Amino acid sequence: MPEIYKGIRFFSRKLIKPEDLNSHGTLFGGSVLAWIDEEAAIYVICQLGKSNIATKFMSEIDFVSSAKLGDIIEIGMETVSFGLTSITVRCEVRHKFTLKPIIRIDKIVFVHLDEEGRPKAHGITEPVN
Ligand SMILES: CC(C)(COP(=O)(O)OP(=O)(O)OC[C@H]1O[C@@H](n2cnc3c(N)ncnc32)[C@H](O)[C@@H]1OP(=O)(O)O)[C@@H](O)C(=O)NCCC(=O)NCCS
Repeated sequence: MPEIYKGIRFFSRKLIKPEDLNSHGTLFGGSVLAWIDEEAAIYVICQLGKSNIATKFMSEIDFVSSAKLGDIIEIGMETVSFGLTSITVRCEVRHKFTLKPIIRIDKIVFVHLDEEGRPKAHGITEPVN
């Protein structure tokens, strides 16, 4: 599969609130993973122009650093490659102002599905802006 990098782009921003913290008072990993899954799904729907997709695979998640109450973070996405039925994207979450990375995921694979939930060719080969 040829890899297509056009530069990561940052979309959503989040203010870290009390409900996003773990018992140590720092950003809860489960919250940030839920934000990433939603953001990646929106990104992929925009790339494919199709909404019938499912998350298939996530590579290692590198929790690079943390965030605390009141911090503002941003979530970035980039297309890595297009397959026949799949699309692979990568993600970085970072602090809005310092740009310090919080999380990196090198591969998140989504599959385009038909009405019966089976993989279906998406027909897209080039990233859209
Ligand atoms: C998505 C699903 C239909 C795919 O079924 P499948 O039998 O694995 O499909 P295939 O083997 O035909 O693979 C489909 C595509 O996914 C890719 N793929 C499958 N497993 C993969 C893996 N572990 N890593 C990377 N890509 C993978 C294949 O390479 C293929 O891509 P291509 O068509 O672009 O070449 C099925 O696994 C499923 O329903 N999973 C649950 C999805 C879900 O509910 N996600 C929400 C989170 S729980």
